[in-house]
Amino acid sequence: MKKSIVITGGAGFIGSHVVRLFTTKYPDYTIINVDALTYAGNLENLIDIEKSPNYFFEKVNILDPGALKTVFEKYSVTDVIHLAAESHVDRSILSPMDFIYTNVVGTANLLNVAKEFWKETLAEHRFYHVSTDEVYGTLGDTDLFTETTPYSPNSPYSASKAASDHFVRAYGETYHLPFVITNCSNNYGPNHFPEKLIPLFINNIINNKPLPVYGKGNNTRDWLFVIDHARAIDTVFHHGADKETYNVGGFNEWKNLDLVKLLCKLMDEKLGRTPGTSEGLIAYVKDRPGHDLRYAIDATKINRELGWKPSVTFEEGLSLTIDWYLQNQQWLQHVTSGNYQHYYETQYTNR
Ligand code: NAD
Ligand code: DAU
Repeated sequence: MKKSIVITGGAGFIGSHVVRLFTTKYPDYTIINVDALTYAGNLENLIDIEKSPNYFFEKVNILDPGALKTVFEKYSVTDVIHLAAESHVDRSILSPMDFIYTNVVGTANLLNVAKEFWKETLAEHRFYHVSTDEVYGTLGDTDLFTETTPYSPNSPYSASKAASDHFVRAYGETYHLPFVITNCSNNYGPNHFPEKLIPLFINNIINNKPLPVYGKGNNTRDWLFVIDHARAIDTVFHHGADKETYNVGGFNEWKNLDLVKLLCKLMDEKLGRTPGTSEGLIAYVKDRPGHDLRYAIDATKINRELGWKPSVTFEEGLSLTIDWYLQNQQWLQHVTSGNYQHYYETQYTNR
């Protein structure tokens, strides 16, 4: 069966890299980017591939089951790779209901439409749910998240992602909907919306603005280059076992303050500033409520069973990322000014 894959959230940070990889690597696949274009959706992320004959964009909210059904019928959808979500922990603390709607109800809508549309041929399809390591909660000094770590989400964001993971698994068990789930660590790289740590701090360093480190900067995250995450999704989509979960991570733990200092050092070098200039911008601010202390992924299962491992070191990936932001200041300027939100009207109306 010729593959016709809905990728939800394809205009976002990770989704855009997944859409690019699948559109270019698999010209025989039809790729349908389903995205509501919230503040985090930016079609300028996909300018280089938007005219590819196998790529289609549908401005659809996953909260609208009727519109999802229309997309399934229009493209005879065979598979789903589901990334659309509200993804920012700080926003989830301010507006938890947005996360419950999109991440839980939106995922359930997509499951219902897929289950109904594929009911005669269920075994031939795959529902791939992209999730996060945050569902496991927080770690002590030395342990790691494995695929069997009990769920213990601490933020409205991670609770909503945990709930969506449970619904996917429940549809697999109850209705035999074929599924696979990956739980990934913190991504970084090109096209990252500049409200998350690394792109925010790159933008602030460029503009000599303060770098707001939460608490004492002691929280630890495991960082993975976004293109390596897209490669992992490609691997699991094609080779992952049905009803399995795979953890995806960079084997790359950094305490926030150490990471910020490395970023400052690299930015000083690249901007030709006196060493120590950017570190002077560090400003300690009030901590995030319920701030998980440490995440660290044990990604040995995906490595052992499917052969995936990260392809770039953190130093290489961070350097590539900074170069991308320095060379794409127009992208950054469009995002920070809000201009990117007009791109859809300019590009897609009257087509
Ligand atoms: P993002 O916030 O950059 O992008 C989310 C995309 O989803 C946007 O294009 C947005 O317009 C779209 N969207 C939001 N609500 C929608 C709705 N109701 N209907 C249709 N589209 C909607 O997110 P991201 O960082 O690229 O994360 C993508 C996925 O990966 C999420 O499911 C997230 O939980 C997961 N994840 C992210 C990370 C990370 O470090 N960023 C790590 C692990 C897992
Ligand atoms: O672990 C995977 C998760 O990583 C994903 O599921 C989320 O979608 C993604 O946003 C990310 O969540 P985090 O909360 O870890 O990412 P964020 O970039 O918001 O913060 C990274 C760390 O930096 C965290 O410990 C909070 C801290 N931080 C963040 C910001 C934005 C600061 O100290 N200052 C800041 O201004």
